[in-house]
Amino acid sequence: MLSHKAIKRLRFGGTRDTVTGVALLSGGLATNPFFSVWLKKLLVADFMDWEVVQAKRLCADAVGVKNLLCAKASSLSQSDVDQMVFILQGMLGMGISAVAGGLLAKRVANSIFAPSFFKSELSLRSSAVPGSAIVECAARAARRLSGQIDREKDAGLMLGYCIDTGEAVVIPYEDVMRHMFILGQSGVGKTVLGGYIMQQHISSGGGLVFVDGKMDIKNLAAIHAACTWAGREDDLLVINPGNPEMSNSYNPFLYGDADEVAARILLLNPSTDSNPGADYFKQAANQGLLILVAALNKASLAYNAVDLGILLMNQKALTYLENRVPPSNEKTNLSLFLDQYRVPNKDGVSSIDMKRLKETFGGIGGRLFTFGTGKFGQVMNTYSPDVNLFEAVKQKKIIYVMLPTMGKDNAATNFGKIFMGDLRTTISWLQAMPDEEKPWPPCMAFCDEAGSYVNDAWNRIFEQSRSANVFLIPAVQTVANLDAISPELREMVLGNTWTKVFFKIGTKESAEIAAEIIGKEIRVQDSVSASGGESQSGTDASAGPAGSSSTSANSGIGERAVEEYKVSPYDLTALDKGEAIVSYAGNKVYHIRVPRLGMSDEAMIGPVKLNHFRSRFVKGIDLFRRADQYLSTSSSVPE
Ligand SMILES: Nc1ncnc2c1ncn2[C@@H]1O[C@H](COP(=O)(O)OP(=O)(O)O)[C@@H](O)[C@H]1O
Ligand SMILES: [Mg+2]
Repeated sequence: MLSHKAIKRLRFGGTRDTVTGVALLSGGLATNPFFSVWLKKLLVADFMDWEVVQAKRLCADAVGVKNLLCAKASSLSQSDVDQMVFILQGMLGMGISAVAGGLLAKRVANSIFAPSFFKSELSLRSSAVPGSAIVECAARAARRLSGQIDREKDAGLMLGYCIDTGEAVVIPYEDVMRHMFILGQSGVGKTVLGGYIMQQHISSGGGLVFVDGKMDIKNLAAIHAACTWAGREDDLLVINPGNPEMSNSYNPFLYGDADEVAARILLLNPSTDSNPGADYFKQAANQGLLILVAALNKASLAYNAVDLGILLMNQKALTYLENRVPPSNEKTNLSLFLDQYRVPNKDGVSSIDMKRLKETFGGIGGRLFTFGTGKFGQVMNTYSPDVNLFEAVKQKKIIYVMLPTMGKDNAATNFGKIFMGDLRTTISWLQAMPDEEKPWPPCMAFCDEAGSYVNDAWNRIFEQSRSANVFLIPAVQTVANLDAISPELREMVLGNTWTKVFFKIGTKESAEIAAEIIGKEIRVQDSVSASGGESQSGTDASAGPAGSSSTSANSGIGERAVEEYKVSPYDLTALDKGEAIVSYAGNKVYHIRVPRLGMSDEAMIGPVKLNHFRSRFVKGIDLFRRADQYLSTSSSVPE
């Protein structure tokens, strides 16, 4: 039986239902004269007899039509033509009606009887998948016929299959470019989904930046295999500060103007509070860094993390730089800046008060220094690195950034922040390029476990990257990960991501936010109420019949409309691994299962081979190589 609830679930409306309805109606109308004659005869004639006669006539008609068609057109009489049109009209009408009726019946039957395609505890009706509206299908077919493929609409990334209908959910690049957001507790399928879409993106020739906040050596093998299968192993670049032998060289401070590099270095400053004191120091540090980087650029000296670290901590190095900068505004600015810290010592010679200078820069110098030493240093101490992020993204390379979060947590997250700062510069440069030179397919930046390295810089990234043909996919465990940076960042991420994928969620707060984003719908709530009562009154002690008794009964059936979550916070905490709710375009919801790609041993390509490049000679300030001259107590000043 088609219950009220079932009809509601059908959600009649939309292009497909309208077209089916119109077809059914027009089919009926077209058939009408044919049937009305039939019906009239049926009412007046003796039932069986007339049926037999009509059946014979139909056969004769069919033969007649065939004969008529075979005969020469000139030999057709007017009545023959009329007869033919009459029959064809009837048959056509019946055909259309049958098809439309069938479609409608299938839709109704599906909503009542069809079991879900995949098993799930949750019964949720997915919306129509992207691009399935009749107009879109027709437009796509027309494009295909005319050979004019629309790169934004006709290609995309598939997230998985609807659990209820089995349909594939493919987000076209047009909307993928509006960013994606993945939320779910640990171990529920975020990285598996990431791997699945990265594989598709690599196969379609797209550039990729994969920042892995919880690196797994198996991921490298999988990415390498995916690149090789797509014939793109030459495009793979690996930045792996935890294992320099398995890493290309990369210097995140090398490229950009003074503003950009200073902003990037400043990301190492942990202060996120906005009290006026901290703000003052941030301003002063920014100012100082700007002046230093501008001076380095003016002197045409390349620099790396450790050079910068030494500069911020050592007065001899600062004096050396001051001497190397040719006369210019930059030199004057540097001298003026250093003068603020110069104090005459007891011999009357002025020296820089490094204690005060270090206060200005907070712990930045020390943090830069950790980047220059040990394994980080092996990857980052270079003036001509393998990876120039801007060039690499422009050339659609596949860049795998492995953050060694285990053990070296602080340095790893700082490295993640700096890398994202470099990506931000890259994005702003791409944005300024002519459209035809921007990467296509757009560059995917998949930021796994982004909670550990998100920072303020992300605010602007989301806004800018769409026009740079770069899209971001941050995957986080809780919304609080974003709140930890700022409430604005949370708004920015939630408000700027067109597609949101919610896996099983661990915290109540995140589940409620997700349920709110997925949205509410009006549902009809049925209620049956019954009440009854019996009462007696009287006094037992009384001798006479001075008591009374009564009974009452009430019952009612009610229906009222209530607004409920499409998916409740509870449902979100009860999802299975690899099962997710997708919120798309703000109003569409898909309940999907994500396929888990597995590669057999034969499919895995042997040991990962890295692409190294011949390095050009670039003149650098080279403080690190001569660090003994700066860090020791020796008084010899380098020339
Ligand atoms: N789509 C899926 N189908 C089947 N199993 C899955 C799927 N996604 C995840 N899993 C299981 O969950 C485990 C953890 O998945 P993973 O993507 O690494 O979680 P997360 O990145 O959210 O911490 C996988 O090793 C796998 O066993
Ligand atoms: Mg993961």
